[in-house]
Parts: sequence; C-alpha cells; structure tokens
Amino acid sequence: MGFKVAVVGATGNVGREMLNILEERGFPVSEVVALASRRSQGTEVSFGDKTLKVKALEGYDFSDTDIAVMSAGGNISKEWSPRIGKQGCVVIDNSSAFRYDPDVPLIVPEVNPDAIEGFSRKNIIANPNCSTAQLVVALKPLHDVATIKRIVVATYQSVSGAGKEGMDELFTQTRAVFVADPVEAKKFTKRIAFNVIPHIDVFMEDGSTKEEWKMVAETKKMLDPKIKLTATCVRVPVFIGHSEAVNVEFEKPITADEARDILREAPGCLVIDKHEDGGYITPIESAGEDATYISRIREDSTLDNGLNMWIVSDNLRKGAALNAVQIAELLVERGLIQPKKKAA
Ligand SMILES: NC(=O)c1ccc[n+]([C@@H]2O[C@H](COP(=O)([O-])OP(=O)(O)OC[C@H]3O[C@@H](n4cnc5c(N)ncnc54)[C@H](OP(=O)(O)O)[C@@H]3O)[C@@H](O)[C@H]2O)c1
Repeated sequence: MGFKVAVVGATGNVGREMLNILEERGFPVSEVVALASRRSQGTEVSFGDKTLKVKALEGYDFSDTDIAVMSAGGNISKEWSPRIGKQGCVVIDNSSAFRYDPDVPLIVPEVNPDAIEGFSRKNIIANPNCSTAQLVVALKPLHDVATIKRIVVATYQSVSGAGKEGMDELFTQTRAVFVADPVEAKKFTKRIAFNVIPHIDVFMEDGSTKEEWKMVAETKKMLDPKIKLTATCVRVPVFIGHSEAVNVEFEKPITADEARDILREAPGCLVIDKHEDGGYITPIESAGEDATYISRIREDSTLDNGLNMWIVSDNLRKGAALNAVQIAELLVERGLIQPKKKAA
C-alpha cells in the first residue's frame, strides 16, 4: 500500500525537512511530488537518494493525490487547503490558517491523537506552532498526573522559525559584523546577530504578540481549555532549535523526582538532567533530533505545587515536519485513509 503525497513548500525549511522525514521513517509512499512557487519550478530537491523536480503549486491538480502537506505560509494555505480538501486529498497544514477552526483538528499525536477523528469535515488537519508542539509533548504526561493550573513560559526561538530568510539574515548579519560591513535588518525588526528580539509575529490589542496568543489558544485546544498560560516569545540568534523556560503550577503535589520519572517514560520525551556542568540540553544539540528534551527540572519554592523546567526541541522537526509526518502515520494506522490508486 502506498500513498501519493504532495509536499507544498518543498524548497523551504520545513518542506525540505518534510521530505527527509518521510524518507527516514519509511512512510508508505507510491509517489512524492514537490511543489513550490513558480519561481522554483524546475529546481531540484532531494528525497532520499532520488532527486525530485519541483512543480508549481498554481494549477496543480490534487484529484489523484492522497495527502498534501502544506508549508508555504498562511495565505497560501487559506487559499489552497479548502480547494485541495474538496478534491478528496487530506491536507496536513503547518501554517496557522486553520488551527483555531473548530472543524479542524489540531493534533500532536503524543497528546490528543483521538481528536483526529473529526478531520473529514474539511479534510484538513492542523499542525501546531513550533513552540506549542514541544511544550505540550513535555507537559501532557505531567498534566495527566497532577493537573496543570497555570503555565508561565519564556521562549528562546531560533531564526529558522522565520523561514529560510530568517536563517540567511542571521548568517549575513553575523558575517557583516566580523568584516565591519553595515548590518541591515530586513526579515527581523531589529538586528538579530549578537542580539535578542522580544517580538515574534504581529502585536495584538492587549500588547501581547500573535506568537504568544497562539501558545495560549493552542495549549487550550490540545491539552485542556482550563489551563491558564502566559508567554513571552523571544527570537534569539540560534539557527535551529527552540528553547523554553517554563514555570508550571499544578493542582496536586508533584516533586521534581516524580516529574523526571514520568517524563523518562513519556512518548517523545528525553530527560537530560544532571546537576553538573553541561548536564542539560542546548538547542544546538537538539538540531536534527526528533525528541523533546527536558532539563533543569526543579521545584519552585514560591508555589505550593510548582515546577520549573527547560524544554528544547528542533523546531523544524517536532515543531513542524516530524509532527506532520506523525499525523500522516496516525491516519494510516487508524485506517482513516486509503490510497486512491490501488497498487497494480
Ligand atoms: N520554520 C518553523 O519552525 C515552522 C514551524 C511550524 C510551522 N511553520 C510554518 O510552515 C510554513 C513554512 O515555513 P518555512 O519555515 O518552511 O518557510 P520558508 O523556508 O520561507 O519556505 C516557504 C516555502 O513556501 C513556498 N511558497 C512561497 N510562496 C508560494 C506560492 N505562492 N506558491 C507555492 N509555494 C510558495 C516557498 O517556495 P519558493 O522557494 O518557490 O519561494 C517555500 O518552499 C509557514 O506557514 C510557517 O509558519 C514553520
């Protein structure tokens, strides 16, 4: 059994990782099609040891495609995902366009796999924001045991979260600093090289940013609507890997030792927490890895049932491409999708 899979945005950061992960995990494909804008038509991307010629999304007919993984931005998704879904192709969307639509499941397979059952209403399944994905993977097993009341999180988000232009800007600015060229900021609002910027996505009326709002809305949708969350999202000069300093208040008592034991057994989690120099994870070590890493787990003595922790993951993998492929695997495992073309 093999599925025809289209990767939309195949030349981008997430799209390229998507092709890698489909291949690495041996997702059952009969054909993989790489799609991007007209600008990239005819360029080549790798899929395992094969080379795929990129086709233009515009005018592409999805009627014989089984799964389309969208990572070409919110506007492209808004325009294309409903059309693709109506052609009987299941869309797994990496953008924020449909995450808050009650008719679209928002899924992290380790957290709320059963919510996938409603996907056929629009034939669209949403992938969460990169910062939310790693947060809920680490917090769900603790919520199941001790019930989370409130989360305070500060993020340290890498520039790859802002696409390939974000990575290019960090590289170009860093080089400019070393050769004493003028430093220009285009993608980010201020210089990112040797700096941090407390602003991701647009500002909301209450002074928070859309990135911060997304963490609130998505955690409630996937984990529990009763959880209170407040976030400060910060861009840092790291190429790959988002980090989060997290303070959690629980309803029931839970010690740091108990949390470590729970997280050691939890799907998708890897605890690295030695109380010694270097006994914790940093984003550079998470790049290219699938796990959500948890370090610095400790009790917060200012709260009755409080824990602090440090959560790190590769934003292009668990934060986007890996989670999308895991969603596709869930569809197959549960028999929710059949290939349109039967094998000859
Ligand atoms: N980066 C992350 O950590 C992350 C995490 C979660 C979700 N996401 C979401 O994933 C999406 C892609 O992010 P990214 O980081 O991969 O961005 P990126 O590196 O800038 O790549 C954007 C991709 O979209 C394609 N594209 C742009 N305009 C298009 C059009 N008119 N028609 C078809 N394709 C078009 C680009 O193709 P060309 O090369 O032809 O321009 C490229 O393949 C965004 O919605 C983002 O919010 C990203």
